[in-house]
Amino acid sequence: MPGLIERAFYSRGGQAVAGRLGLPEPPVLRRGRVLPGEPVVRASLAGSMLAADTLELLGVVATSPLLDDGAELPTYPERIGAVVVDACGLREIGQLEGLRAVLRPAVRALAGSGRVVLLADAEVEGVEANAVRQALDGINRTVGKELRRGATANLVYVRPGTAAADLASTFSFLLEGRSAFVDGQSWTVGPAPALLSAAPAAAPGSDSPPLAGHIVVVTGAARGIGAQIATVAARDGATVVGVDMPAAGEALAALANRLHGTALQLDITAADAGERIAAHVATRYGADARIHGIVHNAGITRDKLLANTDAQRWAQVLEVNLAAELRINPVLLDGRPGGLAEGGRIVGIASTSGIAGNRGQANYAASKAGVVGLVGAEAPELAGRGITVNAVAPGFIETDMTAKIPFVQREVFRRTNSLGQGGQPVDVAETIGYFLDPASAGVSGQVVRVCGQNLVGQ
Ligand SMILES: NC(=O)c1ccc[n+]([C@@H]2O[C@H](COP(=O)([O-])OP(=O)(O)OC[C@H]3O[C@@H](n4cnc5c(N)ncnc54)[C@H](O)[C@@H]3O)[C@@H](O)[C@H]2O)c1
Repeated sequence: MPGLIERAFYSRGGQAVAGRLGLPEPPVLRRGRVLPGEPVVRASLAGSMLAADTLELLGVVATSPLLDDGAELPTYPERIGAVVVDACGLREIGQLEGLRAVLRPAVRALAGSGRVVLLADAEVEGVEANAVRQALDGINRTVGKELRRGATANLVYVRPGTAAADLASTFSFLLEGRSAFVDGQSWTVGPAPALLSAAPAAAPGSDSPPLAGHIVVVTGAARGIGAQIATVAARDGATVVGVDMPAAGEALAALANRLHGTALQLDITAADAGERIAAHVATRYGADARIHGIVHNAGITRDKLLANTDAQRWAQVLEVNLAAELRINPVLLDGRPGGLAEGGRIVGIASTSGIAGNRGQANYAASKAGVVGLVGAEAPELAGRGITVNAVAPGFIETDMTAKIPFVQREVFRRTNSLGQGGQPVDVAETIGYFLDPASAGVSGQVVRVCGQNLVGQ
């Protein structure tokens, strides 16, 4: 929540301690559906026009550095807002020099909250081509760590047959402030399933919200990250069904009222949770209504060293964070009224703790790594129905949960990433909004970290 982060970061006590520790003020990140204010430049290293076509589709005017014509290397007398480098077709080590040549002046010229966006082939043949494909990931991660002033670098791999329309929502997300806390990451985009060609992404700044007419269910919606996911989905036009424990009923009702959605008081670990979610949707919105997206956000921690973890703490965390989702999804997928629509979206919440492991969180890491496994297995199973399955893996996010960590420890968690600060719940919510977008039909089976390129597990 903005209020929270300000309280935590900029409280007098916090500032005084940060000052005494000699810690710099973190940069203020560009957020929201806002493109860079400065010029966008692009380069194609091996003749691919996919990035250029995608930018054109989005209405982003991008000038092309001279490298496209094989002429002199570019220089940038002024600040630039983003550099988009199309490396599709790159197969040889020697061709990486082109990337260095383009990036070197560009990263120097990059404005605050600027963007480096790299595009490369997901599937290549041959040893050298695969080495080059992986080399791009190393470059991306390193550039992310070297950039300053809130600028980020990310790499998108594209499967064969990916068209500009398939890539538009990803480019739009990466260039806009919505991806403020996504840094040093790479993920894969493919063609939208044949039967469901991707709807064109809403042009940046356009009035047509991407989720208009769609129902989105968010579990754990009463507070924290869940409340932000619901808020962003509603901003994007969705009718939101907020689900949370009866004990959180008051906050849940207030949220549902504010967003003109509905509230369902439900413990997601109940054996019939899936049935009750579908019944709520069918009752409130009609027997023909279907869920466009379900976001499995509800989660708990019960931290202890494994040596001190009893069976109850173990089971509680695995139940809420993983088993509930495994039970709910098949129910919503069986075609019943109020279930998930064909072409729908399933979104899970993993965690960097699940990817890297974290002392004192064996149960939590198991559950969150389990979410990553679930995504990998379920995405191909549902591809034929046009249903995508993805997850975010948040790092340190400023919520009620993390506000309880003692200041110095919290400050260490916050600062050990490339952006020098904690993320905000809205950063997680915006990434989920990108997955929920109908135009993201070609994005499935992906786990995107929203961690500011946290050092943990990198
Ligand atoms: N805050 C972070 O830094 C961070 C980092 C990584 C991952 N996450 C994940 O993000 C998600 C949200 O985290 P948060 O920080 O907003 O947590 P939070 O504790 O502030 O909110 C979680 C919400 O889930 C609800 N909930 C818990 N158990 C439930 C159940 N059985 N049925 C229905 N609702 C239930 C709670 O009532 C609460 O409203 C969780 O899955 C968490 O593991 C958070």
